[in-house]
Amino acid sequence: MKYLHVPVLLEETVGHLVHDPEGTYVDGTAGTGGHSAAILEKLTGRGRLISLDRDPEAVSLSRRRLTGHGNRAVVIRANFADMDRVLEGLNIPAVEGVLLDLGMSSHQLEKSGRGFSFKRGETLDMRMNPDNHLVASHLVNNAPPGDLEKILQDYGEERNARTIVRAIVRERAKGPIETSSRLAEVISAVSPGSRRHRGIHPATRTFQALRIAVNRELKHLDSFLHKTPDLMTPGGRLVVISYHSLEDRRVKHRMAQ
Ligand SMILES: C[S@@+](CC[C@H](N)C(=O)[O-])C[C@H]1O[C@@H](n2cnc3c(N)ncnc32)[C@H](O)[C@@H]1O
Repeated sequence: MKYLHVPVLLEETVGHLVHDPEGTYVDGTAGTGGHSAAILEKLTGRGRLISLDRDPEAVSLSRRRLTGHGNRAVVIRANFADMDRVLEGLNIPAVEGVLLDLGMSSHQLEKSGRGFSFKRGETLDMRMNPDNHLVASHLVNNAPPGDLEKILQDYGEERNARTIVRAIVRERAKGPIETSSRLAEVISAVSPGSRRHRGIHPATRTFQALRIAVNRELKHLDSFLHKTPDLMTPGGRLVVISYHSLEDRRVKHRMAQ
């Protein structure tokens, strides 16, 4: 259990979210269950929590962590964009609060073996839901250079996108780039020296961009934000922890509406 995700902003999140301890809440990004466990501690009596994650490993980790709460806690493998269908299946018309803690967990980064980290020599997969078809290596080895550059610019805000994509295209002409460590080497080799020695690793933004593209993260967030107000009781609360300006902008815009 060394790589259980350490939940960020725990006090703030749960404090803002749980306004009625007898209400029903959704944790749309269960991960390893840190926020879910803290929400359950605040609930009393009829209070219920439905935790979702699209990653089957996250579902089994949080199920293990949340046993002991009987039918007050249920963990379901689902995309938060499908929260409407999940709630309908449970006969719950609306909930008192919903939490999203976007992005990936430290378990996925350190332990999943799916190539999320540029520090490891793992197959470039990056799928949170292993049933989806698109994997990161497909994009890296097959996407037209213009598309790849746009992914790096839009989702990674990578200023060096054109140079990185040229290096990837040169390399993949010799043979497919199969592992996370190989991709990180290709990127490091063409990154300005200053960035190689100071600040974040030069592959950080590319890896983030590929993860967002492979998992269609913004599309699912948009769909969730569109549906959610109708799934909440009056006075219900939505708490979103985001790490990316593209997510942040969408959430703020929808909340303002
Ligand atoms: C930052 S982690 C959440 C960590 C969690 N709050 C905890 O305390 O352990 C994000 C989780 O959201 C999941 N996730 C990301 N996008 C999702 C989506 N569209 N639907 C369901 N789960 C998603 C990931 O698989 C990952 O497990």
